[in-house]
Amino acid sequence: MSSIEHAHALVAEAGRVATFTGAGLSAESGIDTFRDPATGYWARYDPAELASPAGFAADPGLVIDWYNHRRRTLAAAEPNAAHRALAEQADLTHVTQNVDHLLERAGAQRVLHLHGSIGLDRCHRACGYEERIDISAPPGLRPCPSCGAPLRPAVVWFGETLPEATWIASVEAISAADLLLVIGTSGVVYPAAGLIDHARSTGAAVVVVNAEPIRAPADVAVIGSAADLVPMILAGRRVGQADAGPGSDVW
Ligand code: APR
Repeated sequence: MSSIEHAHALVAEAGRVATFTGAGLSAESGIDTFRDPATGYWARYDPAELASPAGFAADPGLVIDWYNHRRRTLAAAEPNAAHRALAEQADLTHVTQNVDHLLERAGAQRVLHLHGSIGLDRCHRACGYEERIDISAPPGLRPCPSCGAPLRPAVVWFGETLPEATWIASVEAISAADLLLVIGTSGVVYPAAGLIDHARSTGAAVVVVNAEPIRAPADVAVIGSAADLVPMILAGRRVGQADAGPGSDVW
């Protein structure tokens, strides 16, 4: 049996399925991943430095410009075949590290954004101010209207803690799953990547779809393009009853 047939069979026989996704899911929509080589103007900068409190302290305008570049790219992007195939499965809960909303744009209902949303700004001092922005025409660096500290994207940076309610909902969704479908993540950023180990420890099957092998406790790893493989793996799956589970958190 090929790896894709194996993955298809596991998904077909699983009742509850959850997904855990990363930047590779959106790569074929034209959104740069974090750890694959980038091209163009922003390739000279390291995302791990820009997406950090230290990077923001060193040059807040640069960090906002980088996010606004990503926002404008996202505004012009479309969900790809993998997003669409996932969204067709109404009973799935999606735990994503992606700060885009391409799963929701494809029609997915239950998306938990572990690393926040690029469509929101919030106060960097965390006074509680939050604002939805137009990602096609994002504002530049500006002060919080409530307390004067700088505003920043409402995303989780390196070294910051994950949103607690989203983390708890994600652990619950994965604890309840018979199978975790891991798509397009290098699986190296913790605590998010620990959800793969958690799925395994609760007895769920783990299916990985990624452009290259990753270190994860998978029953089967299918190597290749998410947009090609995800629709094949989900083809013919009987969509279960969507229960009252968590709705999407930020979009
Ligand atoms: N199809 C499938 N997989 C792909 C594709 C594709 N078309 N393109 C790239 N990939 C894979 C890459 O091989 C890589 O293993 O997707 C993975 C993307 O890994 P990262 O760039 O590390 O992205 P991610 O795992 O989402 O990063 C986790 O780190 O930078 C932080 O907070 C940020 O949420 C992000 C987190």
